[in-house]
Amino acid sequence: MTIDSFSDDTEVIAASSAFCRDARYKDPSIYDQANKDPEAFWAKQARQLQWMRPFTQVLDWQTPQAKWFADGTLNVADNCLDVHLATHAKKTAIIWEGEEGESRRLSYLALTMAVNQLANTLKHTFYLNKGDRVTLYMPMVPELAIAVLACARLGVIHSVVFAGFSAKALKERIVDSGSRVLITADAAKRRGQLLPLKQIVDQALRDDDTTIENVLVLGHIGAKSQCQMQADRDYDYYETVQEQSSQIASEEMASEDILFILYTSGTTGKPKGIMHSSGGYLTHAHFSTKAVFDLKDADIFWCTADIGWITGHSYVIYGPLSMGATVVMYEGSPDYPKKDRFWELISKHQVSILYTAPTAIRAFMKWGDHLPKAHDLSSLRLLGTVGEPINPEAWKWYHQHIGQGRCPIVDTWWQTETGGIMISNLSALNPMKPGIAGLPLPGIEAKVLNEKGESVSEGGGYLSLTQPWPSMLRGIWGDEARFRETYWSKFDSYFAGDAAIVDHDGYLKVLGRVDDVLNVSGHRIGTMEVESALVAHPAVAEAAVVGMPDEIKGQAIVAFVILTANQDVYEGIELDLVRAVAEDIGAIAKPKQIVISPDLPKTRSGKIMRRILKSLVAQQELGDCSTLANPDIVDTLQKQLQLQHA
Ligand code: WT7
Repeated sequence: MTIDSFSDDTEVIAASSAFCRDARYKDPSIYDQANKDPEAFWAKQARQLQWMRPFTQVLDWQTPQAKWFADGTLNVADNCLDVHLATHAKKTAIIWEGEEGESRRLSYLALTMAVNQLANTLKHTFYLNKGDRVTLYMPMVPELAIAVLACARLGVIHSVVFAGFSAKALKERIVDSGSRVLITADAAKRRGQLLPLKQIVDQALRDDDTTIENVLVLGHIGAKSQCQMQADRDYDYYETVQEQSSQIASEEMASEDILFILYTSGTTGKPKGIMHSSGGYLTHAHFSTKAVFDLKDADIFWCTADIGWITGHSYVIYGPLSMGATVVMYEGSPDYPKKDRFWELISKHQVSILYTAPTAIRAFMKWGDHLPKAHDLSSLRLLGTVGEPINPEAWKWYHQHIGQGRCPIVDTWWQTETGGIMISNLSALNPMKPGIAGLPLPGIEAKVLNEKGESVSEGGGYLSLTQPWPSMLRGIWGDEARFRETYWSKFDSYFAGDAAIVDHDGYLKVLGRVDDVLNVSGHRIGTMEVESALVAHPAVAEAAVVGMPDEIKGQAIVAFVILTANQDVYEGIELDLVRAVAEDIGAIAKPKQIVISPDLPKTRSGKIMRRILKSLVAQQELGDCSTLANPDIVDTLQKQLQLQHA
């Protein structure tokens, strides 16, 4: 990876004086306070929550094991629901919008009652106890948020699996977590098509060799009648839930008790079950929502991420609901039925804060300025971006055409593992630089380290979080060794897997992954996962997967494939292989290009030189090829790539 230093002409743009005047955080001393005594700072943030038993200990840090607020107890659902009922019972918690423009509103009171009824179902119909696991495989509907909070109410650990994952990927996550109950829906809608979730679930459970005892099925789009309900195993969501009381006592959770597991891709074929705590996680979700998004009571907050990803956990559910905010949840796609769906929705619901991803922004850019221009976007006051580096052009377009020059932009860097935003400017305090995330949040220490682990004061290197923070991952479910190896073996501090540059203002520009993890449209996909999906196909002997720069998606997947000895190339084989990947992992992991080749660039010891494949697809200088055992292959591959591009 080449790391250039910042060009000196990076623009510096300050938020408007009107924004700064009304901002929640406008006193720069917050950084000094947090620096001077980070534990006191985080204790103060944690005290914003309602604790059942207040904590007296702040941090116990035995690298890499953190305990935050360890002797405190709380219930996370209480903090997202009950604490608001005295003053905000009638306030809208969730505005849900479906693909066809249908919408639903749930007040804090209605949401609380729905959560309690489901929690009672989980407890009394399925006999779930604190610490049990539940897998949620659902569309973006209020019932998904309800299910997440019902688990939190009981201290049941939720594992949300994005509804775009295949039956095989779902099963793998169910088995790894040892979930006893699965909550799903008849189907989800995707651009007018149905995604038959219950059928996918049936396929995942077909061999009856998982720990799942019961499946709760939400009739979301009226396709319930087409679902085969297995007697004694499958229950209808509303039939079951409506019999339950809407009162329940919250489980008293220790701060360190696990709130959820969320699977994410790593450098091996097996996904990692990232574990998050209760008290520390919620402290940071709450604080970061307040500080970064400047969230206030009157705001309508729309984070466009699916709840299947960490962004949806922290900024659709836990952060904003712990603030008593109104959130928008949208089930559909940005381009369905028309490409102005987002702008229509913003004006319809008077969205004031929009948090979305660079890949979406680049698509909007391509679709044209006339689309946002045709809608009233005057309700917007702050914009956010997350998921991958944002190129300055896209940043400027977002600023000008969506923010109309009026809204500051927060470029937020974080990861599934960090639980919440780690690097982002606070808009009233730090001016923006397009394409550069900015400063670590108060209370967070992020540094750029060189190969030896020394901090770089200006320039490029590896991004590391050098002090513990409340929402840090508590480990990988069932794999302590992998936790230590992945994040704590390269440096003494947390290694994020990203490269970054720090400039003379201490601003951090995150460049992207330095490991074998791809970022496709802001979704993390391990090259190994795609490779194992490909070699599982009988026609494939060997596969190597790399990322190729993509104008909209950031990266696209290219797979180099060697066929088995008795397999001839036939018309449509590429399509078959793409389909095999979609079936194994899910549509998000589909390669954009399959290159069938007689061989791959290898060292004398037989190791595939991915670096060369990466340079080939990016049409960059190949660099040192002297260790190649088969240098001729480079030419062959180059020709093949050119042929396919032609
Ligand atoms: C990886 C984490 C956390 C939300 C969504 C993705 C990349 C994320 C930024 C940003 C540059 C970013 C990093 C990171 N990333 N935000 N603002 N600028 N890169 O979560 O799937 O855990 O992926 O996304 O490479 O390591 P995730």
